[in-house]
Amino acid sequence: MTLGSGYLPVRATTAIAADPASGAAAALLAALLPPVGGAPRPVTQGAGRPAANTITLTVDAARADLGGEGYELVITPDSAAVTGRDPRGVTWGVQTLRQLLLLTPVPASHAALPALRIRDQPRFAWRGLHLDVARHFFPAPFIERLLDLMALYKLNTFHWHLTDDQGWRLAIRSRPRLTEVGSRRAATPLPHDRSRTDGAPYRGHYTQDEVRRVVAYAAARGITVVPEIELPGHALAALASYPELGCRGAGYEVAASWGIKDDVLCAGRESTFTFLEEVLSEVLELFPSRFIHVGGDECPKQRWRACPHCQARRAAEGLRDEEELQSWFIRRVGAWLAARGRRLIGWDEILEGGLAPAATVMSWRGTAGGVAAAGAGHDVVMAPNTHCYFDYYQSRDTAAEPPAIGGFLPLEQVYAFDPTRAIDPAQAHHVLGVQGNVWTEYIPTPEQVEYMAFPRSLAIAEVGWTPAPRRAASHFQDRLTQHRPLLDRLGVHYRP
Ligand code: ACM
Ligand code: ZN
Repeated sequence: MTLGSGYLPVRATTAIAADPASGAAAALLAALLPPVGGAPRPVTQGAGRPAANTITLTVDAARADLGGEGYELVITPDSAAVTGRDPRGVTWGVQTLRQLLLLTPVPASHAALPALRIRDQPRFAWRGLHLDVARHFFPAPFIERLLDLMALYKLNTFHWHLTDDQGWRLAIRSRPRLTEVGSRRAATPLPHDRSRTDGAPYRGHYTQDEVRRVVAYAAARGITVVPEIELPGHALAALASYPELGCRGAGYEVAASWGIKDDVLCAGRESTFTFLEEVLSEVLELFPSRFIHVGGDECPKQRWRACPHCQARRAAEGLRDEEELQSWFIRRVGAWLAARGRRLIGWDEILEGGLAPAATVMSWRGTAGGVAAAGAGHDVVMAPNTHCYFDYYQSRDTAAEPPAIGGFLPLEQVYAFDPTRAIDPAQAHHVLGVQGNVWTEYIPTPEQVEYMAFPRSLAIAEVGWTPAPRRAASHFQDRLTQHRPLLDRLGVHYRP
């Protein structure tokens, strides 16, 4: 960034001009600037030459120097111009304009942008935030608010954890009981004593129309929504809906307690895979994401050991043990996805028993799984609980904090993370990026999500965007101080 001198005033007469490829970014910018005469600010066709009193948005595929998602922003006292090599780059340039508008102290009569030149591009292509909507449900308007805050900090991947033992949150037309039964539980554990419950029925799910709106809202902001359908474990809500999916075939209830459950999808019966293919077919219709997350974590094996169907499968497939049976399960789903042009991603347990071809690993139990997978030539996303678990406490003084799941992950530690540390430089390109995870056992409200995710999401955003040699904790702290009024203006319930 080079600072110029003076300001570009932004008034009712300030125009927006955009080429067709920048249309979504122009619509975003128009919504950020004050309306003109009560009507939405018009966007005119035009690109290239900066015109007076105009903010110009241009996609220029010849600007290879900007890289994927990169942009250049030039503001003079006369005009402003955002150029990206691709539409996402222009979108990020608009988010920088948004930050500048929110950060720049101005006279009451008009907004203003400081004269400057910025050339900016991300280090990683996957800059994620995850939200568990199974343990607690968060309505679609809050998801859109979260997407809007993600976009402000150029996070580009929203990992939506839609199913788990405690609730199935996605309407599936071919399997209505998933929401009729699976989206409800009898009670929720108490935050200060997880051995007791509140006794209050709990429910919530998204309609397919809501999902389509969320996905479109995200896409307009350059964000990909990666859905997660948990298998073969963390599937009790599915078993309660369709008991024939489990090894025991009956007696399941949507969980009203936290923790790992022994009852999982049966790996032996074909009906399990019929079910998954029906569900995933609708998931693929709803989510254009190339990556589909299938969970794969924390799947106990005792039911499979005792199940004749699972044992018959193991023998028929020549598998040594139940770890290999899980690996076979994931491979089968991965092949089904690959045949439809999608890529499987799963938690690092999918390494156990052998990694499916072309599977991408999300490393959560530290970085070891990610290091091993990258070493074996697989793509990885780093989300280790040591640096990326936003459900952990932010202070050692836990008595002064709202109840959380445990752990200790202060802002400084998030910021200090380097996703390619311990990776052979020749394999570093397999690290797609980094992600913060918000598990919600102890997070019942949207305000609490914001408290846990902010400001730690600003740190993860910078880990994902900025090359390690250009990062400095003290500089980040300075800028964070400047961003507090911005977060205040947006009403973000961050941890001060
Ligand atoms: C996880 O935290 N079980 C992925
Ligand atoms: Zn079984």
